[in-house]
Amino acid sequence: MEKKFKRTLITTALPYANGPVHIGHLAGVYVPADIYARYLRMRGDDVVMVGGSDEHGVPITIKARQEGVTPQDIVDRYHKIIKDSMAELGISFDVYSRTTTDLHARTASEFFRRLYDNGQFEEQTSMQPYDEQAGEFLADRYVVGTCPHCGSDRAYGDQCEACGTSLNATDLINPRSALTSAPVTMKQTSHWYLPLNKWEDALRKWILEGHKEWKTNVYGQCKSWLDMGLQPRAVSRDLNWGVPVPVEGAEGKVLYVWFDAPIGYISNTKEILPDSWESYWKDPECRVVNFIGKDNIVFHCIVFPAMLMAYGDGFQLPDNVPANEFLNLEGDKISTSRNWAVWLHEYLRDFPGKQDVLRYVLTANAPETKDNDFTWADFQSRNNNELVATLGNFVNRAMVLTHKYFDGKVPAAGNSEEIDERLLADIRSVRDSLTANLDTFHFREALKDAMDIARLGNKYLQETEPWKVAKTDMGRVATVMYCALQVCGDIAVAFAPVLPFMSEKLASMLGMGVLTWDMLGRDDLVKSGTVLGSAELLFEKIPDEQINAQLERLSRIKEENKIKNFKAEPQAADVDFDTFMKADLRVGTVLECTKVPKADKLLKFLIDDGLEKRTIVSGIAKYYNPEELVGKQVCFIANLPPRKLKGIVSQGMILSAENADGSLVLIGPSAPVVPGVQIR
Ligand code: 2FM
Ligand code: ZN
Repeated sequence: MEKKFKRTLITTALPYANGPVHIGHLAGVYVPADIYARYLRMRGDDVVMVGGSDEHGVPITIKARQEGVTPQDIVDRYHKIIKDSMAELGISFDVYSRTTTDLHARTASEFFRRLYDNGQFEEQTSMQPYDEQAGEFLADRYVVGTCPHCGSDRAYGDQCEACGTSLNATDLINPRSALTSAPVTMKQTSHWYLPLNKWEDALRKWILEGHKEWKTNVYGQCKSWLDMGLQPRAVSRDLNWGVPVPVEGAEGKVLYVWFDAPIGYISNTKEILPDSWESYWKDPECRVVNFIGKDNIVFHCIVFPAMLMAYGDGFQLPDNVPANEFLNLEGDKISTSRNWAVWLHEYLRDFPGKQDVLRYVLTANAPETKDNDFTWADFQSRNNNELVATLGNFVNRAMVLTHKYFDGKVPAAGNSEEIDERLLADIRSVRDSLTANLDTFHFREALKDAMDIARLGNKYLQETEPWKVAKTDMGRVATVMYCALQVCGDIAVAFAPVLPFMSEKLASMLGMGVLTWDMLGRDDLVKSGTVLGSAELLFEKIPDEQINAQLERLSRIKEENKIKNFKAEPQAADVDFDTFMKADLRVGTVLECTKVPKADKLLKFLIDDGLEKRTIVSGIAKYYNPEELVGKQVCFIANLPPRKLKGIVSQGMILSAENADGSLVLIGPSAPVVPGVQIR
């Protein structure tokens, strides 16, 4: 690291408490932040990591309305789920708070008031969507109407979910209120705006000249915002959920959620360090690092810094904002509203004790430079092939061999030989690369480095073959096992930021005490004479059944979404009455029904059609057991020319409705009728 700072304040984007956290949040923000915090702590740095739930904003009020509860009920529920699940995953927050605390309201309110008193805002009036019936202004999300791009009639005032286009409420055709369905009118309102344009030069200098070392995705996004030119941004809203605007006559107005949320970082620091929080926020010897996802870049690199500059009083701007791109799930964008996610609390329930596996996979696939994909197949293979077969296997061999040849006591190294020196030198070079990668937020590469240590260990045992040498030279075996155990110690240290649970277990098996970063690459990490614990397995294979259960859950969700989003086909072109009447539609009674051999879709029906028995083959075998259909009445077309299907002559077609997920449902009369009657 180039500059030397005395302290580091790590902030993590505050997740909205309108749902639990999912793997996208974890891979983008919390796992990398935690890796970094743990690494710095192991170096002995003074680190504070703050987090908390973002409990204001429109999505929370929408969720509350949908469920008929209060916004407070919603945030209480999800704050608890989020906080508990992140703790269980080992995300080592020094504080995980929330934005509905009094302390936060006071802090955000005071922040606004100071800017207001110092003339840092402009007051502007504008026309905003209004619901006359409810007597309320409508956030964009509360306006629904027809998308001007794709014609979907369920577009929201901020986005059309059918075609993905970002919208303004005024773009919608036929805008209606989501509250009452009343037509939306426009009404004048006034708000406070932060004139970002005033800070443009300072921001340009600070980022474009002063922080060329930032990740290219972050730097690039900042540059394009700055090149487009900054405009004043409203920092208040007409809403009844949030921190009230602390100005007389501003009743019914609250701080915009993106104004109060980043101030949450300050409130949360105050909460744990009431007396010394300023030494993290206002001291140039402390650096601030913001971990966020790419959709938050503008707020952290442009808006919040402008707020801090406007506030003055020594507040530091972030030293780095290592934002990540997005993680997709099985090829599709993760979505809370479509339930397309792996939820952390459900993962912890389905894979108890496997926190490190998720941390590993999310780090190995972290979307550091581009969007990435999480698949369950990759999750399983990384666990089985990397954690079990490479890492776990090496440690287990070293432990078992030491138990076998030295009764579980770390031997004293015999005479050092060339190969052992080479091993230690290799590990030191991996250590240097690992450290450099951690310092520069390249956590995927850092993880590969750590895995290289396990690979070196495996290779070493393979080359030295202590199980053969044991027949002739126990002194040499002592050296080999001593060195192999040092590698195990290196593994405990190197993986500690990413796999803290494994690392703790391993360190205790090796009798290592507290792990510090400077232990890495030393040749006396694990002391001779130490009595090792029993050789417990660090990881276990994940069987196909467990993975299949997850894949089945996802395919169920896909089907449910298809049904939810079903849109009827537009009506077909008119058909004249006489043509329609040519179709001879009738009701028949099923006399027999059997599966058609070698055709998994087909059932063969024998139908009493009122005149005779007729055979019809129908493609509904996936949805019905043949036995349950005997005796039922079905509708069929009687006058189609016969067709041969799998060698059977089918005399007509049985009618069924095709559901949104593609499943078929038979159509029949709602009360029994005489077989053979016509349908009119
Ligand atoms: O995008 C989000 O999920 C926001 N709730 C992040 C807020 S970050 C911060 F500023 F608090
Ligand atoms: Zn659209």
